[in-house]
Amino acid sequence: MINSIYKLLEVKDLSVQFSQGKKNVKAVDGVNFFLQKGVITALAGESGCGKTTLAKTILKFHKPAGGKIYLNSRDITLKSNERYLRKNIQVVFQNPFSSLDFRYSIFSSLYESLSVFKKIKKDQAEEIIVKSLNDVELDKGIMLRYPQQLSGGQVQRVCIARALINKPSLVILDEPTSSLDVTTASKIVRLLAKIQQDSGVTFLFISHNLRLLKKVSDFCFIMYAGKVVEFGPKQLVYDNPLHPYTKLLMEASYYRLKRFKDSKVSLNGCSFSSRCTYQEDKCSKESNFKEVEPGHFVSCCLF
Ligand SMILES: Nc1ncnc2c1ncn2[C@@H]1O[C@H](COP(=O)(O)OP(=O)(O)O)[C@@H](O)[C@H]1O
Ligand code: SF4
Ligand SMILES: [Mg+2]
Repeated sequence: MINSIYKLLEVKDLSVQFSQGKKNVKAVDGVNFFLQKGVITALAGESGCGKTTLAKTILKFHKPAGGKIYLNSRDITLKSNERYLRKNIQVVFQNPFSSLDFRYSIFSSLYESLSVFKKIKKDQAEEIIVKSLNDVELDKGIMLRYPQQLSGGQVQRVCIARALINKPSLVILDEPTSSLDVTTASKIVRLLAKIQQDSGVTFLFISHNLRLLKKVSDFCFIMYAGKVVEFGPKQLVYDNPLHPYTKLLMEASYYRLKRFKDSKVSLNGCSFSSRCTYQEDKCSKESNFKEVEPGHFVSCCLF
């Protein structure tokens, strides 16, 4: 089954380190996964586990310490593929107000993005901009306004329109609804699902809210302490979680993830061992990723 999947993005053995004072933090630690084209893949894990670092490294905002990232089989860690990367991968961040320049009207922000890759006159651009605003259910009158004159939900819709305006193959949504109230957030989630269905764009949807991810995603991967510990179709990961950490997350009381504490990360073997109730002697060795059932991968000594 997995062989017939078109892998739009492939991440191989990716690592990212930061120095924090005297210590080195492995924010992303030997991560392997892929994104199937034309679906929504969820990335879940406690706050601080490395989700944003992973996203920003795919976008080349951070330099990897090692590993490769392929988009449509092209190595986008290479400088020569940077334009290809910028054209084909876009991002929507958590805080919409810090994503737009307050000195620019909405028209100017969208025009600037639209004209990055091809020269286009303002009157021709207007038609495209109006359509892209309509696609996110905003009226064209918004064009003449400035971010500070809009609500958080409206500004996030503008950010989504801007991310989609050049028809990228992949959009990374990093906690796109976390700064919004519940009603606005659920409207934005419904909108994103509709956009994905209508356009066939690929979404990587990052959140610490598992309930939300269950609603919107087709595939799901779980990160712990900079590593992917489980990956597979949503039904398999949610209905039959295999990794002890995923099992813990799926418990009702854990459904909204807490801040991950790196003091609890075990340094040898499995990084989850100090919190794991299934721990055995063999857990002191690093485990490999295994395909336990078709399409369902887990990294744990129990398998
Ligand atoms: N620019 C940075 N400099 C130093 N440490 C960082 C930086 N960005 C992230 N980190 C650290 O990397 C780890 C992962 O952070 P992050 O990717 O933001 O997690 P998440 O998005 O899952 O909440 C954390 O320990 C965080 O403190
Ligand atoms: S490898 Fe061992 S300690 Fe780690 S999650 Fe699996 S059973 Fe628990
Ligand atoms: Mg984050």
